Order: sequence, then structure tokens, then C-alpha cells
Amino acid sequence: MSPTVRAFLKSSLAWLAIGVTLGVAMAAHPVWTIYRLAHVHMMLLGFVAMMIFGVAYHLVPAFSGFPLHRPTAARVHWWLANFGLATMASGFVLRVHAPAAGTILLAAGGSLSAAGAYLFVYLIWRTIDGPAHLRAGAHRARTAMDNRRPGRQPLPLATSSRGTPPAA
Ligand code: HEM
Ligand code: HEM
Repeated sequence: MSPTVRAFLKSSLAWLAIGVTLGVAMAAHPVWTIYRLAHVHMMLLGFVAMMIFGVAYHLVPAFSGFPLHRPTAARVHWWLANFGLATMASGFVLRVHAPAAGTILLAAGGSLSAAGAYLFVYLIWRTIDGPAHLRAGAHRARTAMDNRRPGRQPLPLATSSRGTPPAA
């Protein structure tokens, strides 16, 4: 597991802990449901999305067979996602008491978080496609595997080593 994957999984767990704490606080003291939007985004953008980001950065390279495109950019995504969400959540809380200041924080945090999301889309997209110099080889390997499926013509190499009886 790469350090970035670990960081995403741990930040997801941290957001879960903070989010359920606010949830329980709201449940116990209903006046605090004015902070519902902070809870919602800690849960969905913090816990759920960070878990998905971490799992995707680990699994998509394994599924696609290609290395993660620009691992350092994934680390930048972690900072954008977490700093962005912390700023956003502060904005949602502050907006209840000081709408103008809260909106500035919310817009700033939301923009950082969105920038992180766009970066994620780009990195995972490029990882699915793979680097150009590996793509051709991967295509040849996949075609060779296809030829070994039942009902398809076996590769000439396979016929000569296994299927053809020795000459009398
Ligand atoms: C200990 C766990 C949790 C507690 C005690 C809790 C409590 C609450 C409370 C009190 C509200 C406000 C309801 C209202 O406005 O009257 C709320 C809203 C919400 N919670 Fe939680 N929550 C918990 C976990 C979660 C989790 C795990 C998620 C999602 C992954 C989640 C997603 C939401 C959403 C989306 C809303 C907004 C619903 C709406 O728009 O009406 N909550 N929660
Ligand atoms: C850049 C990221 C995001 C920004 C800036 C953002 C911003 C907002 C804003 C401004 C609202 C409306 C608040 C209001 O009613 O005044 C909202 C509501 C909501 N957002 Fe987000 N959001 C983001 C990402 C997400 C994501 C990824 C999810 C889910 C996975 C989500 C789920 C929700 C839900 C469920 C509500 C309605 C909550 C309620 O009314 O109880 N948001 N968001």
C-alpha cells in the first residue's frame, strides 16, 4: 500500500470519527442541526469519498495492469481534498453566524475540493488507459490470451509444442 493510499484511508477514518461526533451532538441537541451541512459533507466528501479515492488509487492500477499515472499528483490531491474539506466545513459552520465570511470560506474550500476531484478524474482516467509505450504491448498480450479461449484458433506456438504429434 502506497503512502498516499494510507493517507486517504486514514483521513477517511478521521472524517468518519469527526462526522459521527457531530451527528451524535446534533441528535442529542437538536438546535445544532443548523450545522447539518458540515456533518453531511464530512460524511459524504470526507468518509465516503476519501475511502473511494484511497481504494481506487490502490485497485485501479492492479485492475488495469498499469502503474498509477503521476503518483506525486495523487499526493497533491490528498492535500486539496483534505484542506479543501476542512475549509468547506468551517465555511458551512461560519455561514450560520456570519453569512458573508462563511460564504467566502465555503467558496474557497469548495474550489480546492473540486480541483482535487478533477485531478482524481484525470489521474484515474490516464491510469486506466496506461502509458502509450506500454499500451501496444498490453494489447498484444490481451489478444494472445483471447486466442487461447475455447472455440478460438490456438496460437501457432501452442500447436507446435502441445498439439502436433512427433513425426514418425
Ligand atoms: C453516529 C452516526 C450518525 C448520527 C448520530 C447522525 C445524525 C444526524 C442528524 C441528527 C442529522 C440531522 C437531521 C435533521 O436535520 O434533523 C443528520 C443528517 C444527515 N446525515 Fe447523519 N448521522 C450519523 C451518521 C451519518 C453517516 C454515516 C452518513 C453518511 C455516510 C450521514 C449522512 C447524513 C446526511 C446526508 C444528512 C442530511 C439529511 C438531510 O438532508 O435531510 N450521517 N445526521
Ligand atoms: C466541491 C465539493 C462540494 C461543494 C462545494 C458542495 C457544496 C454544497 C452546497 C453549497 C450545498 C447546499 C447548501 C445549502 O442548502 O445552503 C450542498 C448540499 C449538499 N451536498 Fe454538497 N458540495 C460538494 C460536494 C458534495 C458531494 C461529493 C456530495 C455527496 C457525495 C454532496 C452532497 C450534498 C448533499 C446531500 C447536500 C444536501 C444536504 C441537505 O440539504 O441536507 N456534496 N453542497
